[in-house]
Amino acid sequence: MKKYSNLTKVIHIVGARPNFMKIAPLMEEMSKYPQYFDQLLLHTGQHYDDEMSKSFFDDLRLTKPDVYLGVGSGTHSEQTGKIMIEFERVCLQEKPDLVIVVGDVNSTIACAIVAAKLCIPIAHIEAGLRSFDRTMPEEINRVLTDQISDYLFTTCEDANQNLIKEGITENKIFFVGNVMIDTLLSHIEIAKNSNILEKLGLRKNNKIKKYAVVTLHRPSNVDNPKILMGILNALNELAKEIPLIFPAHPRTIKQIRNFKHQEMVNHEENFLSEGLNNTNRNVLTIPPLGYLDFLCLMSNAAIVLTDSGGIQEETTVLGIPCLTLRNNTERPITVKEGTNIVVGNNPDNIINTALSVLKNQNSRKKIPKYWDGKAAERIVKILSSKPRLLNVL
Ligand code: UD1
Repeated sequence: MKKYSNLTKVIHIVGARPNFMKIAPLMEEMSKYPQYFDQLLLHTGQHYDDEMSKSFFDDLRLTKPDVYLGVGSGTHSEQTGKIMIEFERVCLQEKPDLVIVVGDVNSTIACAIVAAKLCIPIAHIEAGLRSFDRTMPEEINRVLTDQISDYLFTTCEDANQNLIKEGITENKIFFVGNVMIDTLLSHIEIAKNSNILEKLGLRKNNKIKKYAVVTLHRPSNVDNPKILMGILNALNELAKEIPLIFPAHPRTIKQIRNFKHQEMVNHEENFLSEGLNNTNRNVLTIPPLGYLDFLCLMSNAAIVLTDSGGIQEETTVLGIPCLTLRNNTERPITVKEGTNIVVGNNPDNIINTALSVLKNQNSRKKIPKYWDGKAAERIVKILSSKPRLLNVL
């Protein structure tokens, strides 16, 4: 039995790139209340390359993880299973009062299952998002994590409705806004100091060249040679109009090589250390960028083409037109209120929509409610106003 203490011991879980910017504002906010919270940061090691992980710790000034599980890549079951085995050991030793998981990656569901079975309360940040597409691994992770969580913090009101329809009791659901936007708003000024535009030859004498940004990593887009070829064809067609900068996820580069599509892109493997010697490229792939460089690149783009979830939200707040290369989105508010258009992966559709958006550049729309930089504040207020979370270990 855990000894009584006034402190709530919290383990924050991060594992993959999109987790870091969601946990950072929460940890910062909780650190203002050392009388309530004792925080530990656990990194599962799902993402392990420096560009996918360490650079985010540096940019976001996140503390070094207290625990690193180092699970690495594998099949979904291997990755999820390894995280569960290792995280259970940590929980038995640390006896946390609360486990905080974010988003929808394999680290999220793996740690949530472990905590639920040890009867440790779970807070899920970014609960209730639904694409209604169960072929997406993230959708499975979202639905299951929500079912076993005790505090469901949502970014938009439609997420509350999704949860209620799935039978989750209303008193567990809290509409608090978007922690990823907390991070965006608190870093947008610092990101202006990034020299990424100069490094890419996009800014000269204070004039910024018109360019587009591309990111792709979803299995549904990059694991099928025909689909990937179709998208790359569309990008090459668009590149006749506007240069495309494509910071590429490691799995995407691997697949471009596996399918022998290298001639469809100009890959600059050593760009980050050596810079560019020739800036007149069309579809230019570079290694993944750090948070501040990417924020600077995205916020000056004429258009962004992506299959990421978070970028749909970030472009909405930045007022940058976004084409989502998927058949659905779990973030419909970015379409209804923001700058997002879901175009799928049909090459003609991608080209025609992008050209039409580039012609009519007037995409600033509404910023969704509570995407105001204060989501972490709301979450911590709710967690600290609850009766002390009791651990049953
Ligand atoms: C994961 C998330 C996805 C999120 C994405 C952000 C799941 C199910 N998916 O997808 O929701 O949008 O992160 O990036 O959790 N790899 C490396 N180095 C790394 C990490 C990955 O080379 O640091 C390569 C490996 O070959 C690995 C592949 O990328 O097999 C996929 O990595 P994985 O973590 O399984 O999923 P992501 O595609 O990154």
